[in-house]
Amino acid sequence: MNQPSLSDVRSALHRIWIGEEEAQLRREDEKKALELTALLEEIARRVPANDKKPFTLLDVAAGKSYVGLLAAELLLGERASAQVISLERDPRRVELSRVAGARVRTGARLEFIEGEVGRVELWPQEVALAVGLHACGSASDEVIESAIQARARALLLVPCCTSRAAWALPRATRLAEELGIPRAAPVRRRFLQSVVDAERTLRLEAAGYRVEVVEFVAPRVTPHNVLYRAILTHDAGRSERARAELLRLRGPSGATVRTTEGGQE
Ligand SMILES: C[S@@+](CC[C@H](N)C(=O)[O-])C[C@H]1O[C@@H](n2cnc3c(N)ncnc32)[C@H](O)[C@@H]1O
Repeated sequence: MNQPSLSDVRSALHRIWIGEEEAQLRREDEKKALELTALLEEIARRVPANDKKPFTLLDVAAGKSYVGLLAAELLLGERASAQVISLERDPRRVELSRVAGARVRTGARLEFIEGEVGRVELWPQEVALAVGLHACGSASDEVIESAIQARARALLLVPCCTSRAAWALPRATRLAEELGIPRAAPVRRRFLQSVVDAERTLRLEAAGYRVEVVEFVAPRVTPHNVLYRAILTHDAGRSERARAELLRLRGPSGATVRTTEGGQE
């Protein structure tokens, strides 16, 4: 599969979202183009070589659906067997996605759903690939949970900043206190982030995914540059190990880490 270049992504951003061939991209759009080019490379690896094979890509916490619509145009081309679905809760962004969708050159079916990523009934039956770029607040945790419940075959997830809404944060904070992790912000923040990332990784592995966590672009492009690459492999040994590690991480009480906004364990 041909990888779209940065220049392909920049021109598609111009045409589809700005609506002009040669408008200037703003500085943040230039950074977005770098992220999208790197993410499309990841998505390309999951697109089946056989263009008759059904393929459903779900763009979660989609915003203006940059990921899904660029994948439709630059990776799926004329594949009528492919479907791209955007799931986003903000009605204004869903409408902007629809407007942009009308400009996309693709044979893939496009669908735009307004709703919460945590409502698994909004997810399609057979998700070949769910992708979430900068899923904010508790959205990353909800995406992981829905992907597990929907048995999505693969998930590419780039969480946003770890806000108070991250499910594992209360447990991470308690561990920081118990271990005497200094409160100096850069030290404390890194520790908390590690616990949150560890819990998310183990939760996916316990559910049958092989997970790699990588930096998909340089930190100067975005400080939120960690990509979870999760592939459903059903490896029983890995799941069992992850379940044991998850229990250890969650502590002797086995407390659930799932919380609502800033809630308690
Ligand atoms: C930082 S933006 C990223 C948008 C897009 N993925 C991108 O990279 O341009 C996060 C998006 O997630 C949406 N969002 C946050 N929580 C959500 C949830 N629980 N369900 C659905 N959408 C959510 C927000 O409305 C926002 O559009």
